[in-house]
Amino acid sequence: MSLIPFPGQSEPLRIGVLGSGSGTNMQSIQDAIEAGTLNARIVCVLADVPNAGILDRARRHNLPCAYLDPAPWKTKLEGPAEERYIQTLQEAGAQVVVLAGFMRIVKARFLEAFPNRVLNIHPALLPAFPGVASWKQALDYGAKVAGVTVHFVDAGTDSGPIIVQRAVPVLDTDTPESLHARIQVEEHIAYPEALRLLGAGKLRIEGRRVFRND
Ligand code: GAR
Repeated sequence: MSLIPFPGQSEPLRIGVLGSGSGTNMQSIQDAIEAGTLNARIVCVLADVPNAGILDRARRHNLPCAYLDPAPWKTKLEGPAEERYIQTLQEAGAQVVVLAGFMRIVKARFLEAFPNRVLNIHPALLPAFPGVASWKQALDYGAKVAGVTVHFVDAGTDSGPIIVQRAVPVLDTDTPESLHARIQVEEHIAYPEALRLLGAGKLRIEGRRVFRND
């Protein structure tokens, strides 16, 4: 497959964000937009947790946002809830869906609604340590290097083509919290960078490999 998602787009890339947590990644994207280093607009922020910090952050920036009930599933988005999420994102005009700490698996129907337009950020150097609390997995495993991956989402778990990775050394003094904090510093660089490349039409996918046409 070869893909240049938005060739020559001069209009801001319209981004929909899904999150479950505090929303620092969404914040880093909005900060880059406000700083003029990312030509984009967040058109919709949706959370599957009623009082998620990501919603407070969105409100502070006057971004359209809502809690959408993900019931009945605990770890995936499927059925009527999935339809509600898709419809809300489409009505907001989202061209790209950014999973920013969204702790649920999105399934085929969702991916078909936004083909090659769903990105995820994962707090590890994939394919190492997929799943949850990856920074703790890295520490417990004894890895010397941890990091962050931004990737296209495919039907697997944390398995899609990789756009950007940034490494973080693991220190002897690290706790899970200290390592996650340093990984997050790199996450906040990696996500805006990936979106900058995507919006500028500079990404090309061939098989699993994503090339940058700078
Ligand atoms: C981030 O560290 C992100 O990489 C991770 O959740 C955190 C969300 O932080 N995502 C996953 O673990 C997905 N498997 P945030 O709410 O402050 O952006």
